[in-house]
Amino acid sequence: MTRADLDKAPTDVAAMFDAVAAKYDRTNDVLSLGQARAWRRATVRAVGAESGQTVLDIAAGTGTSSEPFADAGVHVVAADFSLGMLQVGKARRPDLTFVAADATRLPFADGCFDAVTMSFGLRNVVDVDGALREFRRVTRPGGRLVVCEFSQPTFAPFRAVYTNYLMRALPRIAERTSSDPAAYVYLAESIRAWPDQAGLGGQLQRAGWQGVQWRSLSGGIVAVHRATCP
Ligand SMILES: C[S@@+](CC[C@H](N)C(=O)[O-])C[C@H]1O[C@@H](n2cnc3c(N)ncnc32)[C@H](O)[C@@H]1O
Repeated sequence: MTRADLDKAPTDVAAMFDAVAAKYDRTNDVLSLGQARAWRRATVRAVGAESGQTVLDIAAGTGTSSEPFADAGVHVVAADFSLGMLQVGKARRPDLTFVAADATRLPFADGCFDAVTMSFGLRNVVDVDGALREFRRVTRPGGRLVVCEFSQPTFAPFRAVYTNYLMRALPRIAERTSSDPAAYVYLAESIRAWPDQAGLGGQLQRAGWQGVQWRSLSGGIVAVHRATCP
């Protein structure tokens, strides 16, 4: 697949991730104050994939969210529509399977995955409902969807401090660590505009996913939603 095949993808989002790809992982570690690894572990546990199963990690970026699956003997397909992110990932982990794909038009057969997971990607997708339906199409009946995404702190005083960090401190820190600080202004704004835990849970249900559950991490900065394919 080439950039031309991804003609209907919102290329401004893809281009934004192309621009930050080289320093993406380092910036992530700094901005998440070291919490990112714990969030990834919780996501892998929620997927609960066994050795030999096949998992789609959509919006995998440089493959950092895919690595724990591969390291556990799970066959993971790391898919993303930013060719820049995929290139950095392939150079870093040549053993992983990277595929160029748009979350809303996946180049995979119906029911071919035991699970689909998405870490810090759904918020960037223009047609979220379309993506959630597409994930259901490629998941086998009884298979799982696990979405790890920024959410809303549940304790009001902490929410106020956190919003201040997002809107003021995060863009300033990114100026020192990222190759495209403007992308992190977008990041802060997109987190603020994103639904809370119950809101995303309802959206998953309306897209046809069953048994929707979620767990808040780091006081609700992040939530891991889990659901089953009917
Ligand atoms: C914040 S990064 C997350 C990368 C990785 N999952 C992680 O946890 O480090 C978000 C990724 O979503 C990808 N993305 C956004 N919209 C997408 C779409 N419609 N289809 C495929 N990838 C998408 C971007 O290219 C970017 O690599």
